[in-house]
Amino acid sequence: MSTKPKIGFFDSGVGGISVMTHARDRLPGAEYLYYADTDNVPYGTKSREQIIGYSCRAAEYLMDAGADAIVVACNTATSMAIEHLRKTYPIPFIGMEPAVKPAIQYYPHDNILVCATPVTIAGERLHNLIHHWADDEVQLSLIPTPGLVTLAENAQFDTETVCAYLDTVIDSSKKYAAVVLGCTHFGYFRDSFRAFLGDVHIIDGTAGTVNRLLHVLDGIGRLPKNLVPGKVTYIRSGRLVEDDESLAFFRLLEQRSRML
Ligand code: DGL
Repeated sequence: MSTKPKIGFFDSGVGGISVMTHARDRLPGAEYLYYADTDNVPYGTKSREQIIGYSCRAAEYLMDAGADAIVVACNTATSMAIEHLRKTYPIPFIGMEPAVKPAIQYYPHDNILVCATPVTIAGERLHNLIHHWADDEVQLSLIPTPGLVTLAENAQFDTETVCAYLDTVIDSSKKYAAVVLGCTHFGYFRDSFRAFLGDVHIIDGTAGTVNRLLHVLDGIGRLPKNLVPGKVTYIRSGRLVEDDESLAFFRLLEQRSRML
């Protein structure tokens, strides 16, 4: 067994890079494998069967490449496939869910906006989570915002374009205390959410997921033993990424994740 733990991440596309970047900052001494299923993005409008199929392919690739644990850096895949993955494969899977629990705890009597993909918004997992944490007082607006996935995949981050899209789906006359970003692609648009909604608390599940990853690695004896940075490998739907254009785009997203 190599000394450095190998951590696999997958998402339908580039959204999970924000989660992996946070993990690399906390655990530099691991090796990272990032699988972007860009042949099949978006997941957020697909069927459960399709999403389970894509997730299994990604998980098998990452396990064949030696992953000790896999972060499902995608709320949509977590919603549809995490139980299947955990039942089917022998390594730990860390999932991501919209961070409605902290949002409700901070703002039990204010309006909270939850943005996610159509599949996550309609999914039983999110409704069970809300049912578990919310009482009748809680004011949640659940809004599917799939257009943000396309904007991120196309590297369109300018505030004007993003706000014009948000204006077609969100009622900005309503005052929200918090917005829960329930899709990993949405973290790249924090600046636009602020520009569009004004003074709003932006909450996402990234830090919680990375905390959970640390705990899981510790549990299987695979926490990194030093801080010497491990290598990062990018894969697109089963193909190793080596072209400069893709690598430059992925690096830009790493920077954007740290900036916003
Ligand atoms: N980034 C994903 C999520 O967190 C999915 C986006 C999509 O492919 O629709 O839900």
